[in-house]
Amino acid sequence: MNETNFEKLASTVRGFTGIDKNQPSLGYRLETQLVRGYSSVDSQTGAISVPIHLSVPYVHPSFDETTGFGYGRYGNPTRLELENTLAMLEHGLKGWAFSSGMAAISALVKLFSPGDHLLVSDDLYGGTYRLFTTIYGRYGLEVTYVDTSRLSEVKKAIRRETKGVFIETPSNPMMHVTDIKAVAELIKNINGLTVVDNTFLSPYFQRPLDFGADIVIHSGTKYLGGHNDIMSGFLVIAHESLIEPIFTFTMSEGGALSPFDSWLTLRSLKTLGLRMEKQQQNALALFEFLKNHKKVEKVFYAGDPEHPGYEVSRRQTTGWGGMISFYLKDKEEAPRVINRLKLILFAESLGGTETLLTYPFLQTHGAIPEEIRNAVGVNEKLLRISAGVEDAQDLIQDLEQAFR
Ligand SMILES: Cc1ncc(COP(=O)(O)O)c(C=O)c1O
Repeated sequence: MNETNFEKLASTVRGFTGIDKNQPSLGYRLETQLVRGYSSVDSQTGAISVPIHLSVPYVHPSFDETTGFGYGRYGNPTRLELENTLAMLEHGLKGWAFSSGMAAISALVKLFSPGDHLLVSDDLYGGTYRLFTTIYGRYGLEVTYVDTSRLSEVKKAIRRETKGVFIETPSNPMMHVTDIKAVAELIKNINGLTVVDNTFLSPYFQRPLDFGADIVIHSGTKYLGGHNDIMSGFLVIAHESLIEPIFTFTMSEGGALSPFDSWLTLRSLKTLGLRMEKQQQNALALFEFLKNHKKVEKVFYAGDPEHPGYEVSRRQTTGWGGMISFYLKDKEEAPRVINRLKLILFAESLGGTETLLTYPFLQTHGAIPEEIRNAVGVNEKLLRISAGVEDAQDLIQDLEQAFR
């Protein structure tokens, strides 16, 4: 076998190729794509529910032939179906599924080298802050936290070593909205990468690659999984040049999603649209309740017509999502309200069928130094709600009695 043949074999085993632009599913509309996934049915058996392939090694039919799979860390048929489905939904070229959102972000960071400088949204999930600063800071990654919803701030923070921007929009937990297209154009001019954490809206409401982003990341633990029972993460890329480096990190590090969790996530995606519509409906009902309540000082919701990012959201999203944050007038009320809740669960996640209330100051954002938390507004008055799919009146009644 000559080297070219071997390279071909290696690249198939590694799953190097992007999704097939002629796959019939790419011609369907979003809700059909969600239900049917990339392959629609299993071509070998006709199974409508994608089979769970547990095998780690894959037999090669001969010395220079391959089925396209070699070893579980490099590729797995169930996981590949999920990765292709995510790439299709995000309008990308290729996707990778990881065992958590943080594992996906950690793989992404390896695209950068010591001394490289990254701009990162100043309001973001605390675990992402910890990863960039506490972990990768030690390996020479330089990060400037900036309010990416203000283009002038992004422009000002660019340096000669700047190699990219990492955006959360809407941001967690203050719901800042960043104009993806405007920032991506700016970053393209310096040959940098625009990365968007699309966890809060999912491809159902927002597809950042359509607006010039190069990479989308997800905590699939949230809306994509949607039932508070799977941890997963995703990277979806827009350019072929990113395939080789990301594949090399993922095959070397081994943070890939298990076959069972890949199957569970495919199963969850079928109802993503239904869930997100209901979660948004509930969030809107909660928004109306909270903004008129005497104990509430301010509500942060991307769907509020008075939100500074409302017009940008209308341009780049098809919905506002199910996440709301709000300030109580009195910080002493926060523990009291939390302790009085009966239906809404005091827990640290989001995007699932159950409505959760989080205290970001001590929970999701506890890893961020207090002065930074205070500067971005993550203080002791702030509560965050992830609307679930329950009856909206039951949720409102629960808050009403908790506020009393
Ligand atoms: C916006 C956002 N990105 C990334 C993550 C990390 O994802 P995971 O918990 O799946 O590792 C989270 C977790 O809360 C998040 O909220």
